[in-house]
Amino acid sequence: MSAWRPWSGDPSSPRRGYGLWHQWWWVVVLGVAVGSGNPWMSAEACPSSCSCSSTRISCVDPERGISALPVLQSEAEMENITDIYIANQSSFSSINDKDLHYYKNLRNLTVTNSRLTYVSKLAFQNNIKLQYLNLKDNNLSSLSWRIFKRLNISYLILSGNPLHCSCENMWIKLWLGEEADTQELYCIEDGGGRKLLSRLTLPNCEVPMATLSPPKVTAMEGDNLALSCTTFGVPSPDLIWKMFLVTSYEIVTSGQVSVLRLSNLSSLDHNSKISCIAENIVGEKESSLLLDIHFPPKIIKLSDAIPDHHWCIPFSVSGNPEPNLQWYLNDKPVMEGVYISTMIHDITEREYHGCLQLDSPTHINNGRYKLVATNKYGSDQKEVEAHFMQRPLDETEKEPSYYVLHQQRVPLQTHLRTELLCMWWWELLL
Ligand SMILES: *[C@@H]1O[C@H](CO)[C@@H](O)[C@H](O)[C@H]1NC(C)=O
Ligand SMILES: *[C@@H]1O[C@H](CO)[C@@H](O)[C@H](O)[C@H]1NC(C)=O
Ligand SMILES: *[C@@H]1O[C@H](CO)[C@@H](O)[C@H](O)[C@H]1NC(C)=O
Ligand SMILES: *[C@@H]1O[C@H](CO)[C@@H](O)[C@H](O)[C@H]1NC(C)=O
Ligand SMILES: *[C@@H]1O[C@H](CO)[C@@H](O)[C@H](O)[C@H]1NC(C)=O
Ligand SMILES: *[C@@H]1O[C@H](CO)[C@@H](O)[C@H](O)[C@H]1NC(C)=O
Repeated sequence: MSAWRPWSGDPSSPRRGYGLWHQWWWVVVLGVAVGSGNPWMSAEACPSSCSCSSTRISCVDPERGISALPVLQSEAEMENITDIYIANQSSFSSINDKDLHYYKNLRNLTVTNSRLTYVSKLAFQNNIKLQYLNLKDNNLSSLSWRIFKRLNISYLILSGNPLHCSCENMWIKLWLGEEADTQELYCIEDGGGRKLLSRLTLPNCEVPMATLSPPKVTAMEGDNLALSCTTFGVPSPDLIWKMFLVTSYEIVTSGQVSVLRLSNLSSLDHNSKISCIAENIVGEKESSLLLDIHFPPKIIKLSDAIPDHHWCIPFSVSGNPEPNLQWYLNDKPVMEGVYISTMIHDITEREYHGCLQLDSPTHINNGRYKLVATNKYGSDQKEVEAHFMQRPLDETEKEPSYYVLHQQRVPLQTHLRTELLCMWWWELLL
């Protein structure tokens, strides 16, 4: 099957997603039970002319036919269905907007040797898991590519339908490629003649183009910016901008050219995607760019030290270009090395999350930690107190305890290990 897709867009590009960093704190274990599909449901839950298992509905009885998609008693039952098989149903003619609404986990849909004539553009809007669609031997004269816009279909079987040799069906030829011949797909010309779909050529019937200019943008926070998008193609395409921006903007479109004016660029939009899409009856093409917005550093978070495998003083910093990070302990620069080093654990669209990592720190590491983040546009700084261990008893009378760890929830073994290390260290010193 051809890799080309008329719906070449990417509707689900993650933005400002939760990175690995966030999973540090939350571990969610999802247990997914997979049903065997064997136990057959009670008769009243299943439409009388069909047979049902917990994952499959099959309606093949030509005598007691169905005219619409079967509906089970409860939403929960429908959610468990992965497979619907309909065959030999002479009254079955359409799949409408809501018919499959509750079959969220549907993977496999077969409607064959029936009278299917119409499939709504929204028919599968709730069935994003649909992979296999077999509509062989029906009465479809056309099928819009928009039906499949948000789906990731692997198999589409359409042979045995009176498809017209029309521009609306051109995407099927483009998408199936050689598979169209394997399925022996024909289309029917105006005069009634049959033609191999793979041979279909039509004037003025092409996938449109979209061109964004400039193709790359680097700007400064606060700047104003104008992007223009030009579309080409016949039939003449619709032009659609797609973006989620904090920066305010206006769009001025005239004919096949549209201008997007952004004013006072927000650094929050750094690495945001802006897309311009040209869409017509044959398919769509997208042209997109990522905003590269320069801005001075900002320390978003600097928190108390936490004991993990190593000790960590967690921080989150933003800035573009990437800020240079320098630590100070009681105003003296921290020399990073094997035992103390800055580790970046996660980089999101505009933030760097990490730790000042300390390997077995002792009381000499206690104190006021200052982080200074700098790039060519400026700098930011924040401070946090860290107490890894108290000074020895003779130096401080106030605290009776031998050591105090700053954080709760330290496993006992860590306490002991740290304590032993510390005693060993003092012995060396004395
Ligand atoms: C759905 O499937 C799960 C897992 O197989 C099962 O535990 C549950 O009872 C099913 N729900 C219904 C309504 O059949
Ligand atoms: C549908 O009907 C044809 C004959 O008309 C039969 O050969 C075929 O097995 C039937 N399909 C199913 C799934 O029952
Ligand atoms: C879908 O159904 C077809 C025919 O029944 C079967 O060959 C295929 O393995 C099924 N695919 C999935 C993903 O269940
Ligand atoms: C097949 O679809 C056409 C419309 O495309 C309709 O006029 C015709 O009645 C349908 N035939 C059957 C047998 O349903
Ligand atoms: C689409 O399906 C293919 C195989 O069926 C899979 O490899 C791919 O990851 C899927 N893509 C998305 C975006 O779900
Ligand atoms: C630009 O945006 C910033 C932050 O959103 C705001 O503080 C500033 O007043 C804005 N400047 C203008 C000229 O609108």
